[in-house]
This record gives sequence, C-alpha cells and structure tokens, in this order.
Amino acid sequence: MSKNDFFTYQAQTSPHPLALEVSRAKGSYIYDQDGNAHLDFVAGVSACSLGHCHPKVVDAIKTQVDEYMHVMVYGEYVQKPAVEFSKLLASHLPSNLNTTYLVNSGTEAMEGAIKLARRHTSRSQVIAAKNAYHGNTMGSLSLMGLEERKSAFRPLIPDVRSIQFNAEEEIENITKKTAAVVLETIQGGAGFIVPENGYLEKVRKRCDEVGALLILDEIQPGFGRTGKLFAFEHFNCPPDILVIGKGMASGLPVGAFVASHELMADLKENPKFGHITTFGGNPVIAAASLATLREITETDLIPQTLEKEKLFRELLRHPLIKEIRGKGLMLAPIMESKKVTDYLILEAAKKGLILFWLLFEPKAVRISPPLTISMKEIEKGCDQILSILNSYKSGTVN
Ligand SMILES: Cc1ncc(COP(=O)(O)O)c(C=O)c1O
Repeated sequence: MSKNDFFTYQAQTSPHPLALEVSRAKGSYIYDQDGNAHLDFVAGVSACSLGHCHPKVVDAIKTQVDEYMHVMVYGEYVQKPAVEFSKLLASHLPSNLNTTYLVNSGTEAMEGAIKLARRHTSRSQVIAAKNAYHGNTMGSLSLMGLEERKSAFRPLIPDVRSIQFNAEEEIENITKKTAAVVLETIQGGAGFIVPENGYLEKVRKRCDEVGALLILDEIQPGFGRTGKLFAFEHFNCPPDILVIGKGMASGLPVGAFVASHELMADLKENPKFGHITTFGGNPVIAAASLATLREITETDLIPQTLEKEKLFRELLRHPLIKEIRGKGLMLAPIMESKKVTDYLILEAAKKGLILFWLLFEPKAVRISPPLTISMKEIEKGCDQILSILNSYKSGTVN
C-alpha cells in the first residue's frame, strides 16, 4: 500500500487531508509507518475516550467476538451486551432517560431522535442553533447551522428554524408548533461554546410551556469529557431525548438515543418498525460500550478531567492565544488569527503532536485528548505548542 493508493482509491473529504500513515496506536499515542510516535490531543475527534486500544475494551471485544457477532437485526433477539449496557446507562441517568435505542453513528442517532419527536408531538417544526453540527445525513444536515455547508444539498427536510445559541431573546421562537428543540449541550464545531446565564434551563422551561421536546446532542461532550458523565448535569437541564455516540465505545462506530419508556414506545406502533437498523446494538460494539462505561464510571477519570483542564489552562498562556473556550477535556484555544491556527496545527503534525481544526471557527484549535491522558503527556504537548507559537513569525506561510 502506498499513500498514493489512499488518494486514488479512497474517497476524499477535503483537498488537503493530513494523511498520517498509521501503523498502530496505544494509549495517548499513534505510531506511523516509520515508527514515529504522535502524541494524540484529538482522540479521533473525541471518540477514543479511554485512549487507543484500552486493554479492558480490547478484552471485551475479543471475548465477545469469540462468542457471537451479528445474529439478528436490532430489537428482535435478547443480546446480553446491549441489554447490560442499556441497563447500566439508565442507572447513571435521570429517571426519564431509562430506555436506549442503539444505532451505528451519531448522525443516525440524531435522525432517530428527530423522528421520535415528530412522531410523538405530531408536529413538524424543529428548531436548532446557528453554527450547530449534528451530523451529515440529510436530517442532521438540515439542522446544521451554517448555510454555506448545506445549500448545495437542498432541498433538505422542511420546517427547520434556527436560533442563536445563548441568545435568551430568541427562545420565544419556540412555540406550540415546535416538535423539538435540538441543541448541543456544549457547541462543538461552533468553537466549544458553553451555555451561559441559565440558557439551557430557560430553553427547558420554554419547551415545557409549549409542549416541545428538548433533544440534547451529547455526542461530543458525553461520556465524561466535561467533568460529568453528561454535560447537561452541569446545567440542571435533563433533555427529553439524549443523543450520544463518539466516546461511548472508545473507538468503535456507535450512536444511541435515550428517552423515557413511554416516549420510545411510539416507535413500535403506528407505524410499527418506526425506526429500524440492521447493525444497531451490535454485540461487539455494545461490549466495547459496556467496558467503556464501566471504566469511566468506576474510576476517577471524570473528576480528573477537571484537573487536566486546569493544567491545560495554566500551561497554555501565550500572547497568540486569545482565550481558551470549552470545559474539561473539550478545549479550544482561540488564536489571534486563522493563520496562526493553521501554522500551529501543521507544524505540530510535523513534530509529532496531533491537533486539529474545528468545523466552523477558523481561529480555534481542537484539544480533545483521551480522558486517560497523563499530566506528563499534557505538559509535553503544551511545551510543544508553546515552542511552535514562539517560532511563529507574522507573515509565515506553511
Ligand atoms: C455534536 C455532534 N453531533 C453529531 C455528530 C455526528 O456523529 P457521527 O459522525 O458519528 O455521525 C458529531 C460528530 O462529529 C458531533 O460532534
């Protein structure tokens, strides 16, 4: 295999992929074909919550592979890993979030959540936030809060309106016509924007007043990344439907939406099979999810994210860093300019530190390492960041 084959035979998503040639990955490091170690401050875009190839996750996968893999479409057979995961998850959630529908990706979970909200309320309008990112299938794409990324794919699903995240005065746009309000608990692609001044609580209250469902997308902040198992716990704002994925299986493809038993029952009648999937709840992935959830909830990883955030914030002080947005291990230093951001990310890639961009905020640098990253690894990576920034000269072209 050559790098050329990657460009020739694999569909590309952008003109300039980083194209690191991976040989293996372990803990906080990815190793390339030449044996160089790359310290991973991105964790597969918040997906490898327990780092690469965590032994407990690998063991759970191997054990399950030896027993059985795919046996039937979702929802027909009783498969222990999926049942145990759903039960354990419910034990960590508010009582209205007791029933889980397992799917294959974050965007598919969002599709299921939108369908459930429409089916339950018999309303069609969905309200999402400007600069929101909920995935790339047609329904989730319809909610994307950036027209230039979606106009080429219109017509999308109708009756979608947008409001500004954190703008209290726009909450009144949620009305009795609204089936659901969909928000990321902490906005990701927009630049790791944390809700302020009781914003989510106010949205929750308005939804209750008009009978709209609140769907919170925790695909990125979920599973311990922000110092709680789910970020809504910081804001006293339990959703009607919780949408999860990414870090849930610590590196395998996964998604789920979670709601009350009553609400979820709407997908089984009128019409029956209201949402179906072949591979959702796949036992190997569910076993990895169960091992991940156990590890995250039975260790100190969650409180440690806040200690680690503190260290990042103490270390990442530099005149070219204007602020650091986000919470826990979902942090976005905002650079003086897009040029600095590009320089830092590309130079870091050459020096064995993995950083990445955010979708809609060109000055932001993504820092979303594995929750298992050590203090020493944080120090090492931050040293590299500072030395790269020190080497930046305005006008530098990469
Ligand atoms: C907040 C949020 N929602 C939804 C998604 C879509 O998840 P997936 O890529 O698994 O479909 C993502 C992925 O980046 C995300 O960050």
